[in-house]
Amino acid sequence: MRTYITGSEQETQACGAMLAGELSAPAVVALSGGLGMGKTAFVRGMASVLAPGAHVSSPTYALVHEYGGEPPLVHFDMYRITGWADLESTGYYDYLASGAVLAVEWSENIAAALPEGTVYVTIEDLGGGKRRILIGEAPV
Ligand SMILES: Nc1ncnc2c1ncn2[C@@H]1O[C@H](COP(=O)(O)OP(=O)(O)O)[C@@H](O)[C@H]1O
Ligand SMILES: [Mg+2]
Repeated sequence: MRTYITGSEQETQACGAMLAGELSAPAVVALSGGLGMGKTAFVRGMASVLAPGAHVSSPTYALVHEYGGEPPLVHFDMYRITGWADLESTGYYDYLASGAVLAVEWSENIAAALPEGTVYVTIEDLGGGKRRILIGEAPV
């Protein structure tokens, strides 16, 4: 388990960029932490490495955004996913099999569907714009 403290959205993005540089596809990055913690900011940093120029936003309504890249980066928001049929309809299993890098917000909602080798990223609020980012091989 590694721990990083960030003091701004830009630093959280930098943390995401660092992790992206370490990944080899296929890979799943499972993000958790409540609303406004910086999950999307972290994915924006990942995209700066994997899919430069992509416009990253929370896939709140679409549930999934594809950003291209080589390997492609695919961004999920599982906030409203409650069952297996829901999850399958996002294309999650197809993307998993495709060899992409998957960044999954609200991954705690699909805990049972995260594969071996998933990288878990948990973001906690320390107050005053500070966040603690925990990166490890198991959920916190
Ligand atoms: N250290 C920090 N890291 C990330 N975001 C921060 C930080 N401090 C303040 N923020 C703010 O918190 C919000 C995070 O938003 P977002 O990335 O969309 O969160 P989430 O996807 O977890 O809901 C942004 O408004 C950002 O400016
Ligand atoms: Mg988000």
